[in-house]
Amino acid sequence: MSDLHNDIAQVLITQAQLQTRITELGEAISRDYAGKDLLLVCILKGGVLFLSDLMRAIHIPHSIEFMAISSYGGARTESSGVVRIMMDLNTSIENRNVLIIEDIIDTGHTLAHIVDLLKTRNPTSLKICTLLNKPSRREIPVKVDYIGFDIPNEFVIGYGLDFDEVYRNLPFVGVLKPEKYSPNEEK
Ligand code: IMP
Ligand code: MG
Repeated sequence: MSDLHNDIAQVLITQAQLQTRITELGEAISRDYAGKDLLLVCILKGGVLFLSDLMRAIHIPHSIEFMAISSYGGARTESSGVVRIMMDLNTSIENRNVLIIEDIIDTGHTLAHIVDLLKTRNPTSLKICTLLNKPSRREIPVKVDYIGFDIPNEFVIGYGLDFDEVYRNLPFVGVLKPEKYSPNEEK
């Protein structure tokens, strides 16, 4: 049996660093949205671990909804730029303060698409909170309101982020060993 931890070349952000930063984000969001009707829209699947910790760090009333997006096509570590809605919201966001909860912003295609779509539904406000940000990879400008960590241009996994749908359960953000990307290597 293989242990996922053996596949990691480097831990980029530890569990403790994640929790410290998420506590700060929760404080900032609680302050900024005090007295307002707040709806967190989590982008599945990558955002789910971040959401579950972040919402416990937010101490004002709020609700949560989910949307599932697919943005990866053929290549396994490059965003295709083609964004598909796999599962839409099942509630109206009209007159609500919407905060999108995302795992990572890379090229920006996914969020630019989601923002354009959700804006047509007349929310009172629409903001973005991402755990990770890769500024050097941006192809489309996106205004990001809350950022957990800026990271270098490396493909990362763990804490919700996957490679081929695996590694989401790792409690830290890490970089995979290069041989794990090779289809010829044994996994
Ligand atoms: P974008 O459209 O290029 O901004 O890509 C955003 C989506 O690509 C994210 O929601 C992730 O699902 C995925 N993604 C981008 N970079 C990484 C990474 O380093 N590891 C895992 N998934 C990533
Ligand atoms: Mg993904």
